[in-house]
Amino acid sequence: MSENTIPHTDKTQWVSSTDSKLYSLKNMGRYSQLIGNLSHRKAWLLDNEKLKALYNENVSSRHLEVGPANAEMLSNTTPPASPDEWRIHLMDINHNPLVFAKEVLSDRAIVEPVQHDVLVAPWPNLSRTFDSIAMGNVLHCLPGDGFPGKDGAFAGIADALTDDGVAWGYTVLGLEDPDVEHNFLARTLIRAYNKPNRKFFQNTGDRLADLEPQLKQHFDDVTVWSMGSAALFIVKKPKR
Ligand SMILES: C[S@@+](CC[C@H](N)C(=O)[O-])C[C@H]1O[C@@H](n2cnc3c(N)ncnc32)[C@H](O)[C@@H]1O
Repeated sequence: MSENTIPHTDKTQWVSSTDSKLYSLKNMGRYSQLIGNLSHRKAWLLDNEKLKALYNENVSSRHLEVGPANAEMLSNTTPPASPDEWRIHLMDINHNPLVFAKEVLSDRAIVEPVQHDVLVAPWPNLSRTFDSIAMGNVLHCLPGDGFPGKDGAFAGIADALTDDGVAWGYTVLGLEDPDVEHNFLARTLIRAYNKPNRKFFQNTGDRLADLEPQLKQHFDDVTVWSMGSAALFIVKKPKR
């Protein structure tokens, strides 16, 4: 698929950067093994069955997946509708995850990709559109001084969610967060991923204690909890 077949917003407005090397089609092909299998189980101690349950309990026929990578989660979610009635939007700053995820999901749903920086809110032409929005393993990739510096992502969700919609996500917390005990492998990976020449992660200032107040600026119904190295959240009732 060529660049032109995926619509994108004005790239000069983006605050994050693309990374076509890290998010190559080859890496999308091995994402499940490296991240879903190894990192979740050995480093972040994220229970994939509980993440799957989050999707199965909350996904709707009008869904937005932010930062899909290889769409592992949606590929294993029980479809809430038939393939011609399940509409999934994909939003990603990188081109390759959109190409890969669209292909993977194409026999399950009508898939509409858009290349956009999640930090630039409101997201274009998507106000009050989705009954469900998921954003897994994305916040820790974003530049910004902790969760307050990543507020555009929360503002975007609040604007794009319908009044009765639900959104959820999970993200690895910073190395210095006093409320989290990262294991040795997690500490090693987080340190390496945050190196200035890599920037796979940019989560040094992300703290569990800051997530709930930040989300409460945009939602009346906020639930935040931790699992291993990560914070999880479910939000409803966007403030208008
Ligand atoms: C680590 S992967 C997460 C994949 C999957 N959602 C999961 O749960 O594991 C991060 C995804 O977020 C995307 N991404 C990174 N920065 C972004 C940004 N500023 N705006 C939108 N997408 C972004 C990446 O291209 C990639 O698809």
